[in-house]
Amino acid sequence: MNAADRQLERWQDQFHTWGPCGLLAVGTLLAVTTSDLTGGTAAWCATGALVAAAVVLQLWHGPRRGRRTPSRRGIVYYALRWAIAFALTWLNPFFAFYAVAGYFDADEVIPGTRQQRLGVFATSVMVAGSQSGGMPIRGATQWAVFAGLLAANNALLLVGTRIALQEEQRSRDRAVTITELERTNTALQQALDENAALHAQLLVQAREAGVADERRRLAAEIHDTIAQGLTGIITQLQVVANTPDPGTAREHLGRASDLARQSLGEARRSVHNLAPVALEHDGLPEALDKTVAEWGRRTGVRSEFTLTGTAEHLHAEVSATLLRIAQEALSNASRHARAARLGVTLSFMGDEVTLDVRDDGRGFDPVAVPARTGGGGFGLDGMRARAQRIAGSLTVESEPGQGTAVSARVPLVRHE
Ligand SMILES: Nc1ncnc2c1ncn2[C@@H]1O[C@H](COP(=O)(O)OP(=O)(O)OP(=O)(O)O)[C@@H](O)[C@H]1O
Ligand SMILES: [Mg+2]
Repeated sequence: MNAADRQLERWQDQFHTWGPCGLLAVGTLLAVTTSDLTGGTAAWCATGALVAAAVVLQLWHGPRRGRRTPSRRGIVYYALRWAIAFALTWLNPFFAFYAVAGYFDADEVIPGTRQQRLGVFATSVMVAGSQSGGMPIRGATQWAVFAGLLAANNALLLVGTRIALQEEQRSRDRAVTITELERTNTALQQALDENAALHAQLLVQAREAGVADERRRLAAEIHDTIAQGLTGIITQLQVVANTPDPGTAREHLGRASDLARQSLGEARRSVHNLAPVALEHDGLPEALDKTVAEWGRRTGVRSEFTLTGTAEHLHAEVSATLLRIAQEALSNASRHARAARLGVTLSFMGDEVTLDVRDDGRGFDPVAVPARTGGGGFGLDGMRARAQRIAGSLTVESEPGQGTAVSARVPLVRHE
C-alpha cells in the first residue's frame, strides 16, 4: 500500500466515524432554521432527545477500533441509527440528511450481502418518504409519488453499486498488475546482479588464465633455451673430465663453449620474442636439416631428415613452434633413448604440417611418465603446450624397447 492509499484509507475512516454526526448537524440546522416542526414543545423535546440519542450512539460506536468490520455489533448500531433517523425524519423531513448515512456504511458494518441490501432499502424508505413531502404518507397521490421515488432511489443505488463494483475490480486488477510488475522487476534486478557477478568472475578467470599462459610460455622458453643448453654443456664437460686425451678434451670444450654461446643467444632472442636463430636466414626445412645434421655429429647417432609434400613458406610462429618441438625431441633422444638411428620427417599435407621424430632407442611408457619435478619432466608437456597454442596437437608413441615416435600436427598457416 503506498502513501496515497494510506491517506485515502485514513480519510475514509474519519468519514465513517464522524460523517453521520456531520450529517446530523446539517439536518438539525435546517430543521431549526426553517422551524418546520409541528406539534409544539413536545415535538421539540422529542427532536432534542433523538438528536442527543444519535450523538450518544455515535460516540458509543464511532471511536472504537475495528468499527469498520462487519459484525453483530454493527447490525445493532445500524438498526438503532435507522430507528433514530426514521423518527427524526418523521418529525422533520430535513433529517433525511442524517438518514442518508445508511447508504454509505451498510457494507462496512453489516455482515452478509442480503442484510446489507435490506439495510440500504430501509434507508431508501426514509429518503423517499422525505422527498415525497414528509411522513406520514397521506393520500393516494403521495403514496404514488413515494412509490415512484422509492423505485428511482433504488434504481440509482443499483447503478451506483454496479459502477463501484466495477471500479473495485479495476483497482484489484491494477494491484495485481503492479505486483506482477514488481516481481518481474525484482527478477530482472536479480538477473542483472548475477550477470555482474558472473562478469567479474569471468574477468578474474581471464586474468588468471592469462597469467598461467604467460608462465607456461616463459617456462617453455627457459626450458628450450637455457636448460637445454646447460644440459648439453654438462654432457660435454663430463666427457672432458673423463678423458686423458688433451685433443679430445679440447674438442669437447670447444663444443661446450659453442653450446653456451648458442644458448645465450637463444635466451636473448626469446627475451625479445624473436624467432630462433636457426630460422633467421633459413626456412623450416633447411633449419631442421641443419639441426638434425649437427645433432647427429654431436651425438654420433645416425640421423636423417626427410621432407615430404611441397614445402611452403610458413608463418614465423608455426616454424618456431615446430623447430622447438624438434629440438626438445632431439634433446630427449640424446639424453634418454640411447638410439642407434633417428629420423625426422616434415610433411606438408594440404592444410596441415606434421613433424615426426622417431628413434629406435629404449623407449618408455608414455602413460607412466613420472610426475614433473624440479629436476625435469617439463619437455613433453612443453612440446604439447606449444602445439596446442597454435591449435595443433602432439602425440607420443613409445613402448619400452620399441623406440619412440613424437608427432606434432599443426594447421598450415602461410607466411604473410
Ligand atoms: N626419446 C625418448 N626415449 C626414451 N625415453 C624418453 C624419450 N623421450 C622422453 N622420454 C622419457 O620421458 C620422460 C619425460 O620427458 P621430458 O622431456 O618431459 O622430461 P625430461 O627430459 O626428463 O626433463 P626436461 O624437463 O629437461 O625435458 C623422460 O624422463 C624419459 O624417461
Ligand atoms: Mg626433455
